[in-house]
Amino acid sequence: MRIVVGISGASGSLLAAKTIEALLDHKVGVSLVASNPARMVWQHEMDISYGESIEEWSYNNNFEHFAIGDFKAPIASGTYPTNGMVIVPSSMATISAVSKGLSDNLIRRSADVCLKERRPLVIVPRESPLNAIHLGNMRDLSILGVTILPPDPPYYLPVNTLNESAAFTAQKVLNALGLTEQLPEEMQYKGPVV
Ligand SMILES: Cc1cc2nc3c(=O)[nH]c(=O)nc-3n(C[C@H](O)[C@H](O)[C@H](O)COP(=O)(O)O)c2cc1C
Repeated sequence: MRIVVGISGASGSLLAAKTIEALLDHKVGVSLVASNPARMVWQHEMDISYGESIEEWSYNNNFEHFAIGDFKAPIASGTYPTNGMVIVPSSMATISAVSKGLSDNLIRRSADVCLKERRPLVIVPRESPLNAIHLGNMRDLSILGVTILPPDPPYYLPVNTLNESAAFTAQKVLNALGLTEQLPEEMQYKGPVV
């Protein structure tokens, strides 16, 4: 099993970190690529640098990393066997490009590959409020079979931290990619909290 993870330049680097950790925990291979704006946001939002994170994940044999401009990377081709892709977090710029087939960087090209090969593609959008352009692009992608998965906190759970909320979103991503059949027991809705 191998999933391509694209990190674009939207706020929410933590969502990417939790998703990568959840995939590796599940023994799923990760092919990671981040845009230059994503690295800027990471620097702004995370305690550990992007480079240090890559170094840590690289100890795992299931992990590989590619540069955003590396169109020779295997994930740029439909012949490289992967089980799908998640863009987390996704900027509105990347959503716009993917919805129009604009493959001008490795994240966008890999997403285009998923669409043409009809592999699962999950997009975790980060923007608020949304305008009609954003909504229209997400609608177009949804019609193509893409799962649009906003990182909403699980209000029905006793979740108190951004870490816990991001871990919940990561589990929802794994589920949407078909890697798990359901959410972990402790994340399932069990009826009203009284
Ligand atoms: C600190 C920071 C936070 C940002 N947050 C968002 C965001 O949440 N959503 C969004 O669509 N763009 C956001 N942007 C703007 C994008 O980074 C910008 O549109 C960029 O062109 C996206 O390129 P990419 O999709 O190739 O990464 C942010 C930029 C910075 C510097």
